Amino acid sequence: MLRQLEQIRLEALDELDGIGELRELETWRVRHLGKKSKLTQALRSLAALPLEQRKLAGSRANEIKLSLRSRLDEKKRALEEACLASSLRQEKLDVTLPGRPVCIGRLHPVTQALEEICNIFKNMGFQVLEGPDVEWDYYNFEALNIPPDHPARDMFATLWIDPEAAQKARLLRTHTSPMQIRIMEKNGPPIRAIVPGRAYRYEATDATHESMFYQIEGLAVDKGITLADLKGTLFEFCRCLFGEERKVRFRCDYFPFVEPGAEVAVECLACHGAGCRLCGYNGWIEILGAGMVHPDVLKRGDIDPEAYTGFAFGLGVERIPMLRYGIDDIRLFYGNDLRFLKQF
Ligand code: FA5
Repeated sequence: MLRQLEQIRLEALDELDGIGELRELETWRVRHLGKKSKLTQALRSLAALPLEQRKLAGSRANEIKLSLRSRLDEKKRALEEACLASSLRQEKLDVTLPGRPVCIGRLHPVTQALEEICNIFKNMGFQVLEGPDVEWDYYNFEALNIPPDHPARDMFATLWIDPEAAQKARLLRTHTSPMQIRIMEKNGPPIRAIVPGRAYRYEATDATHESMFYQIEGLAVDKGITLADLKGTLFEFCRCLFGEERKVRFRCDYFPFVEPGAEVAVECLACHGAGCRLCGYNGWIEILGAGMVHPDVLKRGDIDPEAYTGFAFGLGVERIPMLRYGIDDIRLFYGNDLRFLKQF
């Protein structure tokens, strides 16, 4: 029996030495110290032995049991320490490594321009209002003196919301001018308002044209407003934005919803008027259309044209940073190239 117990002990220790993972220890414990282990069975069979032998073998079996338990505890501690040491080695922090740069976000150059332009007009006493991108034909065209089949519709290549409908009624606004009518209907005179927002046109893009771009509409309606007020407001705006030195041109233009109509162009920064790709080789870049609000448009806004007059303008926002920084292609703003956008 003593020989058998010694063999059980050696076998268990041999197996314990080969264990390298903590989770294998429990299997070892069940196999060598559990209820069905050889050692427990040997202890059970002691009853059949004569008294002297039973005493001797019983005490040896208990010794072996205790020693195996203590070897198990030792092994467990050793494996836990090794495990901790290895995870500490892996998680070691090298405080001498250079830090990872934190990317700081910034406003898109067009958003910056929108904010700057709005601030200039706010300082002149204009309030900022907003309107819907999806508009009715009535507000975008008819109320602005552009009935169906009017040739001026060709100026605004339109993206329709329901192109298949028998009577097309909803569209993506082609300019911010529909807000002129909405503001007059809702607010009544006196009015001094600007409307920043997106406009959409179904046209091929080039260096100065996008199919989605920003405009800022301006509208002032009151008693005694004249063309001189329009001119003064727009020249002051250009002075604030581009400085005293930059040449600004104000000349006649046609829009069905104003009479008289005008356009403002600014000397091209890229070529200083000599002509280049950015300005279409004519030295000037048109930034806005404007004019005195047509009496019929005032009437549709419930305002008496005998008592009130007004001016309106519509400004292309992307053209402002283009002029200021000499950016020669509007498409760069919406190409999502961070190398370009990070410069502003
Ligand atoms: C208009 O949109 C008129 N609603 C402006 C207006 C308002 C006139 C009030 C009179 C009274 P126009 O189509 O010219 O006009 O556009 C005005 C400005 O928007 C242009 O000067 C230009 O700076 C900008 N713009 C027009 N089309 C595009 C385009 N496809 N991409 C980028 N900017 C554009």
